[in-house]
Amino acid sequence: MTKSMLKVLAVSLLISGAVQAQKAKSPESAQEKKIQSLVKKMTIEEKVGLLHANSKFYVSGIPRLGIPEWALSDGPHGVRAEINRHDWGYSGWTTDSATCFPPGTALAASWNPKLAQERGIVLGEEARFRKKDVLLGPGINIIRSPLCGRNFEYLSEDPFLISAMTVPYIKALQSKDVAASVKHFLANNEEENRVLVDVTMSDRALHEIYLPGFKAAVEEGGALTVMAAYNKFRGDWCSESEYLDRQILRKELGFNGVLMTDWNAAHSTVKAALAGLDLEMGTDIKDYNEWYFANPLISAVKEGKVPIAIVDEKVSNVLRVMMKTKMLGDKTREKGSMNTPEHQKAAYNSAAEAVVLLQNQNSVLPLDFSKLKSIAVIGDNATRKHTSGGLSSEIKPLYEVTPLEALIKKFGSSLKINFVQGYEKQSTFKEGSNIGQSDSKKVDWKLIDEAVEAAKKSDVAIIFGGLNHDFDTESFDKQDMKLPYGQETLIREVAKVNPRTIVVIIAGSPIELAGIVNRVPSILWAWFGGMEAGNAVADVLSGKVNPSGKMPFTLPVSLDQSPAHALGNFPGRNLKVNYEEDILVGYRWFDTKKIVPQFPFGYGQSYTSFELSGLNTDKTTYGKDEVVRVKFSVKNSGTRLGAEVAQLYVSDPVCSVMRPTKELKGFEKVFLQPGETKTVELLVKVSDLGFYDESRKGWTVEPGDFLFHLGTSSGDICQTVKIVVQ
Ligand code: BGC
Repeated sequence: MTKSMLKVLAVSLLISGAVQAQKAKSPESAQEKKIQSLVKKMTIEEKVGLLHANSKFYVSGIPRLGIPEWALSDGPHGVRAEINRHDWGYSGWTTDSATCFPPGTALAASWNPKLAQERGIVLGEEARFRKKDVLLGPGINIIRSPLCGRNFEYLSEDPFLISAMTVPYIKALQSKDVAASVKHFLANNEEENRVLVDVTMSDRALHEIYLPGFKAAVEEGGALTVMAAYNKFRGDWCSESEYLDRQILRKELGFNGVLMTDWNAAHSTVKAALAGLDLEMGTDIKDYNEWYFANPLISAVKEGKVPIAIVDEKVSNVLRVMMKTKMLGDKTREKGSMNTPEHQKAAYNSAAEAVVLLQNQNSVLPLDFSKLKSIAVIGDNATRKHTSGGLSSEIKPLYEVTPLEALIKKFGSSLKINFVQGYEKQSTFKEGSNIGQSDSKKVDWKLIDEAVEAAKKSDVAIIFGGLNHDFDTESFDKQDMKLPYGQETLIREVAKVNPRTIVVIIAGSPIELAGIVNRVPSILWAWFGGMEAGNAVADVLSGKVNPSGKMPFTLPVSLDQSPAHALGNFPGRNLKVNYEEDILVGYRWFDTKKIVPQFPFGYGQSYTSFELSGLNTDKTTYGKDEVVRVKFSVKNSGTRLGAEVAQLYVSDPVCSVMRPTKELKGFEKVFLQPGETKTVELLVKVSDLGFYDESRKGWTVEPGDFLFHLGTSSGDICQTVKIVVQ
């Protein structure tokens, strides 16, 4: 036998083993039986028809067997408008205006898994209303560099926070009979050369940082589909990596749903088929029959290069997802609804709870608008709509409220609003180049002078700045971490004439704030806020909503503090990037290297104050299979209703391998009335305290002391207790 024949045999044995195991399981066995009987009735052409698209977002069904066409749609924070079947143009429907949530980083900034669940429900209902079967999200790649163009769509630099938000999102979405597609598996952490770059990292970084979100999505969330990333991983395209797709995803994580390509990311027939890819999407070849998983797959089977069992495995995966989403004749399938008041309220809640109060000297915020005669509203982002930008996650919302609109509506009748643009979006984003960003440093003194005049004659100046989707976008990375369009100068000049200057940052990725933190009293980070963006931020400014968001990533003082940049390995060279910072991503790096960032991971203030106390564990000594019950109290010691995100970090001070100074292992967002105290209990499995031991290829918890730290950010630890693991 040749090496490749041996490989084919080994893979078939693996599959038949998996199928046997599946058969033995009940109550799934009835479903598996139905799958097998359907597969038996299919011709090879029909089988292969289920494994590649027949248009941009659809896959053919088999009407004679009652298998309907499969409808997929972007995206993570709203159901994307209908796209033409055979090109990227929008179809111009009048029924596809969706509810638009704030993108991923804002979701993570809420630190509230209930909001992730609420989002999943809404997305599921809207997807079903639009007759979609698979929603292409959530996007959960690690925020490795401040510059990655898609950071805004992703969630965090921390795998625990990512997992905590992803699982309820997926469960809720799928409870509405829509399959999630968790993406992009794996290491799509930069957009520069995303379709070419070859990523290498240690096994430890893979298991401790880059994999846990996907693991949680599959094992706990039950994600029914996974999208392979564009890039290569250790020399193989992610869509055909035997290690990632067969070994890890199928074997280690037990995934038996559909693994699909990203759009136009298939590279082979035989290799991909053997590695475990099921579905080819978006290939840039006009004749769908010529795609890798179309006629070439039929030929490969006929030539004995791909066993028919492999094709059957893929078809079974597709049918399994269809059955789990009630596609095969189940009359109880969710019908869905669109843009209901509840959906819009969910979008508002998500935007409002995401807002992070970074700085608030002299309690400038909240503003009592009833006592103000005039306000200056300054900045392009006061009027810019963002929901329809960023490429594949762009949404056609039913409406989008800008900050200026919201302020006028809520307070315009009782005070004078002096709006000036302040700075200009000088660029137009052009597909295929970074031209949109190259022109972003010009300072427009005419606009600044107008802003200064407006600020002088107003009681308060609110500057809405930050980025837009020329910067936070799919396909390109940011060129730097600066505030573009001369905003630092604008902010400085306005602050000189009005001491009550508030800066509201609208952005989905880290920005350098060193040039403004010492110049203005108050800074709010409001993210791209989705369709309710303006209402949410206006309510935080007025105090109707008490800010309770926390940064889901570290805000470095400058780019060179950030690990990948400090080590000079972003975006890599010659289409290769090695993640040399290893497991020291985000705050793990800052803490361990004792670098003080501008604002730490998990940071965010409130209009009230909190006291955390009484940290204790149920025992002091634990066995390796035990669970640590951690208890503490959180008190609202101020005068307003508010919420604190209590964060639990763990460190392993003596270990045979380097451990980060501390790692997030639990959190709880606690809502409290003034004066109220609540006791919180968090459960931490001792087995989750270990590290990935490369020599053993498994997780190890070394006996000894572990420190449990309670805090309100990774930089603000208020109590520590020690436990011993035997
Ligand atoms: C993106 C995916 C998206 C797909 C379909 C790709 O360019 O990377 O996230 O789901 O397009 O629009």
